[in-house]
Amino acid sequence: MIINSADFVISNTDVQFCPKTDLPEYAFIGRSNVGKSSLINMLTKNNKLALISSKPGKTMLINHFLINNAWFLVDLPGYGFAKTGKASRERLQKMINSYILLRSSLVNLFVLIDSRLQPQLIDLQFMEWLGIQGVPFSIVFTKMDKLSTTKFLENRKKYEETLLQSWETLPVTFQTSSKIERGRDDILGYIETLNQGMVHN
Ligand code: GTP
Ligand code: MG
Repeated sequence: MIINSADFVISNTDVQFCPKTDLPEYAFIGRSNVGKSSLINMLTKNNKLALISSKPGKTMLINHFLINNAWFLVDLPGYGFAKTGKASRERLQKMINSYILLRSSLVNLFVLIDSRLQPQLIDLQFMEWLGIQGVPFSIVFTKMDKLSTTKFLENRKKYEETLLQSWETLPVTFQTSSKIERGRDDILGYIETLNQGMVHN
């Protein structure tokens, strides 16, 4: 898919103020610093679109970006981190959860996982919750430039084994690096297929 335009639309703290539209949207979630905002910039080839930082806790709002005037990419705050402590972390989690549960135009959630890490409880619990709520999601392994293929295959195997303890089938997975632009066509192709499915329904 070719990206002709990517425009910032609005930032919100509350799902009820998100754009009133039926256009399909795709949101990115995962622990703080996993590379959600970087991935959005990589997909749109615009390094100034979403704000990124080497410190976790950069994205604090629900950010809508309109792509090709036809669908949205949504950058969300990360979970598991808040500079200001427990109360702020809980508030952010509530905002994220309401967005996920109430946003009817959300077609698919991309759950980002740092490809270097062993399965983390917080991510597994979050995906468990998505399953219970019936929210469609895929897994995106990020920062693939930071580890060898051998190490990644080892990590992925461990991940799949862990997921299969509570899931009958594995979700669709992607391997990406925003630094070396890896996985761009795969994710955009997937979105394109889902968009087409929306049109035919
Ligand atoms: P929050 O908004 O805080 O939740 O973080 P985020 O998930 O949006 O992460 P962000 O995109 O801001 O990136 C965090 C850090 O990881 C930045 O220093 C990025 O440059 C770095 N980073 C992101 N993706 C990659 C990648 O694919 N490879 C490498 N080497 N670094 C990356
Ligand atoms: Mg971010």
